[in-house]
Amino acid sequence: MGKGRTRIGKVLFTKDQIEARLDELAREIQKRYADRELTVVAVLKGSLFFTADLVRRLEIPVRVDILEVASYFDGTVPAGDAVLSTYLASDVRGRHVLVVDDILDTGATLAGVLELVRREEPESLATCVFLRKKRKRKIDVPVEFCGFEVKAREFVVGYGLDYAQRYRNLPYLAVLEQARTRVARDGKKKKGARTKRTKSRRSTRKRSRSSSRKK
Ligand code: IMP
Ligand code: MG
Repeated sequence: MGKGRTRIGKVLFTKDQIEARLDELAREIQKRYADRELTVVAVLKGSLFFTADLVRRLEIPVRVDILEVASYFDGTVPAGDAVLSTYLASDVRGRHVLVVDDILDTGATLAGVLELVRREEPESLATCVFLRKKRKRKIDVPVEFCGFEVKAREFVVGYGLDYAQRYRNLPYLAVLEQARTRVARDGKKKKGARTKRTKSRRSTRKRSRSSSRKK
């Protein structure tokens, strides 16, 4: 998708569906870490809301840390390697660490994050993603907990996921669509999309005006 105007398309998961899935995920996580203290590492900014909603459902002792990576910059095509801008503030050595990310796409981001955390020698290391794209991954990353699966060709936004830092605040998950734009002869996009019907009505009017002038 280019950098043109965008709009929200089909809603894939509603707020209620997300909340119901989070209840299930929290139960799965609790079962695995029963009687242990868990250190949740949120990969920001995408997993901000997901992590906040998930940890508040856990009834086990939880520590929370963050790290921030950016890989998409302002487009919908990966810009290359993920860039780490904030690193763990606490010591995770000997702890049970659960890395929480928004979406697993090519696998590059999460693989990089896991490599860094592994160097800190945690007692155990697992991953939880809100979404997983159904595609062949560049790097195979183990995912122990997953919210939902989405199609590889869809670029999704909402519930923490962004397009050029926008739409993160939507309480649901939706597909991002390119808004229809009019392309002028010089190839530059003009503001304001016109429907085919309006366009054809205008050109009919123009045609009849010019033909009446000829008369
Ligand atoms: P990966 O490194 O290719 O697995 O990409 C992971 C990162 O790309 C995520 O943490 C997101 O920030 C971003 N990303 C991938 N697919 C989407 C999408 O459909 N919508 C929004 N962000 C996405
Ligand atoms: Mg992002």
